[in-house]
Amino acid sequence: MPKTPIYSALKAYAGEDFLRLHMPGHAGKGMEQQELSAAAAWDVTEIPGLDDLHLPGGIIRQSQELLARAFAAGYSYFLVNGATEGIHALFLALGREGKEILLPRNAHRSFYGGMVLSGAVPVYIPVQTEAQLGIALAVTAEDIETLLQRHPEAQTVFLASPSYYGTTCDVAAIAAVTRDLGKNLLVDEAHGSHFSFSDLYPQPALRSGADAVVNGLHKTLPVLNQGAALHLSAGWADNSRIRQTVSLLATTSPSYPVMASIELARQFMEENGASLLERAYEFSRCCSCRINRITGLKTCEQELRKVAGVAQLDPLKILVSVQGTALSGYQFASRLRDKYRIQVELADSNIILAMFSIFHEAQDWTRFYQALQDIAVSYPGPGGQPVKVELPPPPHMLLSPRQAFMAPCRRVPLRDGVNKTAGEMIAAYPPGIPCILPGELISREMIDYLVYLVRSGARIQGPEDAALRYINIIDGPS
Ligand SMILES: Cc1ncc(COP(=O)(O)O)c(C=O)c1O
Repeated sequence: MPKTPIYSALKAYAGEDFLRLHMPGHAGKGMEQQELSAAAAWDVTEIPGLDDLHLPGGIIRQSQELLARAFAAGYSYFLVNGATEGIHALFLALGREGKEILLPRNAHRSFYGGMVLSGAVPVYIPVQTEAQLGIALAVTAEDIETLLQRHPEAQTVFLASPSYYGTTCDVAAIAAVTRDLGKNLLVDEAHGSHFSFSDLYPQPALRSGADAVVNGLHKTLPVLNQGAALHLSAGWADNSRIRQTVSLLATTSPSYPVMASIELARQFMEENGASLLERAYEFSRCCSCRINRITGLKTCEQELRKVAGVAQLDPLKILVSVQGTALSGYQFASRLRDKYRIQVELADSNIILAMFSIFHEAQDWTRFYQALQDIAVSYPGPGGQPVKVELPPPPHMLLSPRQAFMAPCRRVPLRDGVNKTAGEMIAAYPPGIPCILPGELISREMIDYLVYLVRSGARIQGPEDAALRYINIIDGPS
């Protein structure tokens, strides 16, 4: 078998002088712009020799097998609609109308989509936060065990690990709990695809005992956007329900360039991943040490490690608290962008989060560190009070996510939302945990909290009216 079956077949086809009388409509040459026309030559469809993603028996099957081997999976699926596709497929395969499923409340919005599609009902696992920074990081095996005993009907636990901030949960301890109780363990490891290629990084969830894992390959590996994978453990390799749901959700016109990029990244990582990850690990350690010597800044590794449930940290995520400077994280990030042409992944009132890759060179890490130093020196602290967030207790759920999604909703002034059923999600950063989700009862306390959030300048995500003068509600149960 060639090491890169898809890439080799595409290269052969693109190199031959075929008259293309098949889809796509650009026929391999109809894109005027040079940058896109190079991609168009490789952008083909399921013609003989190029296999079929929905019934793989040739190059796609071979390439998926190579992917599974690299990730120590029993079976791996290519996903061409991002990690979202895998998360939706798992919900559809394992969730049912009204069936309870355990998940963290700070999960990515695709979990909500999965519940809408499947009809599953969430049981939220408490999310542990770091008190000073106010960010949501992990869930604990103890909480999961308690919840599974309280909800014996729930068959599935769906974790998100690593968090957006690079902290992983103790997946091995959680897997021991789910195994003992005969439950399924699924992990959204969208940000951790690189873990499989170096022991210096957190242990991958599949090797820690998860039954199924979703990797957003494009997030941390050299893979085109949307390229992702769903890996099944050896015991689940033949799961026909998952095969059905992946096929149900996948487009019938998968992008061959995306699939080829997954394959090439896998080969690249097998050959170079360990050394590049080790290099990045050293850069990261050195950069963190230097940042921690800058007055007003710190990378908070100790603080993150102390949070209950946090097992390991991803060295490629550099989280910097700016609380000791006169700037908020937002202001710090905009100085970095405007003056130093450095764009970070995320900022909130207290922090900035930089996401490095194996392709950043020593000078990139130095440039980042030096810019931080310049800014910190120019804006010495102490700053204002760090934004503290004490989320009100999770609201009461009146409608399942699916029922709420299907119900008509209407807009009312924010204060009129008291004691109504929410028709939209509202989340704030920090802590990145939704305050309210569709179908939940809006309390007066929650409205007061939302008003406070808007006044304190927190970044609000989800509502149609970002200024929260209005809120969408569902008429009906309240
Ligand atoms: C934790 C997490 N899971 C899943 C997803 C969905 O990934 P994708 O954009 O590849 O569909 C994201 C996207 O940002 C994410 O952060």
